[in-house]
Amino acid sequence: MKFSLAVGVLAAAATASAAAVEPRGYGHGHGDKWKHLPPVNSWKLQKSISVRALRKGAQKLQDLAFRYPEKNRLMGSNGHNDTVKFLKKELESLGGYYTVKLQPFSSLVQSNGSYALAIDGTTMESGAMEYSPSGNVSAPLVVVSNFGCDQSDYPAELAGNIALISRGTCEFGLKSALAGVAGAVGAIIYNNIPGIIQGTLGAPPRPEGDYVPTLSISQEDGLALVEQITGGATVTGSLDIATTIETFYTNNVIATTNHGKVETTLALGAHTDSVAAGPGINDDGSGTIGILEVAKQLAKYKVKNAVTFGFWSGEEEGLLGSTYWVEHLSPTELANIRAYLNFDMIASPNYIHAIYDGDGSAFNETGPAGSAEIEHFFEKYFSSNGENFTATAFDGRSDYLAFIENGIPAGGTFTGAEQIKTPEEEAMFGGTAGEATDPNYHGAGDTVDNLNFDAFELHAKGIAAAVAKYATSFESLPPKDLEKRGLAAPLGRSRMRRRKGLKPLQ
Ligand SMILES: *[C@@H]1O[C@H](CO)[C@@H](O)[C@H](O)[C@H]1NC(C)=O
Ligand SMILES: *[C@@H]1O[C@H](CO)[C@@H](O)[C@H](O)[C@H]1NC(C)=O
Ligand SMILES: *[C@@H]1O[C@H](CO)[C@@H](O)[C@H](O)[C@H]1NC(C)=O
Ligand SMILES: *[C@@H]1O[C@H](CO)[C@@H](O)[C@H](O)[C@H]1NC(C)=O
Ligand SMILES: *[C@@H]1O[C@H](CO)[C@@H](O)[C@H](O)[C@H]1NC(C)=O
Ligand SMILES: [Zn+2]
Repeated sequence: MKFSLAVGVLAAAATASAAAVEPRGYGHGHGDKWKHLPPVNSWKLQKSISVRALRKGAQKLQDLAFRYPEKNRLMGSNGHNDTVKFLKKELESLGGYYTVKLQPFSSLVQSNGSYALAIDGTTMESGAMEYSPSGNVSAPLVVVSNFGCDQSDYPAELAGNIALISRGTCEFGLKSALAGVAGAVGAIIYNNIPGIIQGTLGAPPRPEGDYVPTLSISQEDGLALVEQITGGATVTGSLDIATTIETFYTNNVIATTNHGKVETTLALGAHTDSVAAGPGINDDGSGTIGILEVAKQLAKYKVKNAVTFGFWSGEEEGLLGSTYWVEHLSPTELANIRAYLNFDMIASPNYIHAIYDGDGSAFNETGPAGSAEIEHFFEKYFSSNGENFTATAFDGRSDYLAFIENGIPAGGTFTGAEQIKTPEEEAMFGGTAGEATDPNYHGAGDTVDNLNFDAFELHAKGIAAAVAKYATSFESLPPKDLEKRGLAAPLGRSRMRRRKGLKPLQ
């Protein structure tokens, strides 16, 4: 589960890389090989999921993290790379039941940084612009006309000086690049609404040119500076920015059954990476092992619909892996995905049994047609196990986002992250009100010892139940909403970023 407000390590647009996953090997005459298997049965598949196997899998992921001094499974780290190798090996050891692919991609990530602004020697409060290059420059400020979206807005006297630009109309990154083309040594973008904004220039490169060291200030400060400068004063700005921007290379692991109807593929996923602070065994070792165990047990059965398991990398850096996979599907492959199920944290120590609010009844954010039915399926699952359930917002904090943005119905379950358990939830699920549902969320304590195995077992069996159901039939879902799949106007990147809780681009 990604942090809701991007702080510290910040996301990057995944950059294209060769060797995307090839189309599936269907039509290769594999069909007969699976004919002798019994049809998948919900009760049997659920029963085959054992706490012992879940514990062993979670322990394995922790061991992979603890083999290295960083003790984590951060995207690009040894612990994460070993996780990818482990998953591939496990999935390949199932007698060819799945076609297993690594999908490489790379991404620029700004690790950390510091920034400071002084005006005529006095510190002024400022905000970071992600992907600003480092620099320590001191020069007079020159006011840029309009919103600085056109090269002609940048006056000749800007050469060697610092551009003072209003926010608005176009991307921050365009403003920084055009300032650079005009010869500026730095740029300050002032807000067009009250307050300071922390934004992003967007991952370089840009066609217009290189960024210059850039940061932001409030509208109030910006307008005051404009007034001084247009009144004839010389105002000197000092930008001191230090950032580290690195390219990370990583892999998704994708496993698809070699039989079953591809036109109605069930996709499900969990993320394989952790944050830097800990090994990420609940977040999302639990989802990873939950779907892995179901994948392993499913291999004993015949399915009617193809099933694709997505083990996503880079979730914590901004849903990178799942977004990359969805964006690199052909229109046909995208249209073939009938539904997507996401499992991100299913063994929280102070758990709730939460289901993504596909019908919008709790959070007024409805998923694509079919999401409500998936939610109702999980509601019945918990009820029939004698358990209470609650809803969790469909707010784009995990890997289902790219799916729902493409009109694919989605759902899944979740046992809680940093949110504090309410007294009502304590009555419904036990545990302790007033404490986080996972006090170790994004911390060093996110270890096997702190998992709740009752929740883990129940949710992992829920995955099995859903896979058995939808691998057999999608008749309980309304017809595919193909209009949205690549045909509808795509979400603007700015709205997409807001949904993800990422910094604005403009
Ligand atoms: C992890 O794997 C990626 C992709 O293969 C590689 O670029 C990276 O260097 C590896 N990380 C480490 C720490 O070896
Ligand atoms: C960035 O983080 C690394 C460790 O992750 C640290 O060594 C380095 O000093 C940090 N740089 C800045 C500018 O904070
Ligand atoms: C930036 O330059 C100023 C002097 O112009 C200096 O005081 C400051 O230490 C420099 N910052 C860094 C990080 O070198
Ligand atoms: C639900 O959201 C819609 C827009 O998405 C809005 O028009 C409506 O007022 C909202 N309802 C509630 C109860 O908040
Ligand atoms: C379900 O919640 C109610 C309170 O809303 C509680 O009385 C009941 O014991 C809970 N059931 C279980 C199985 O925890
Ligand atoms: Zn997660």
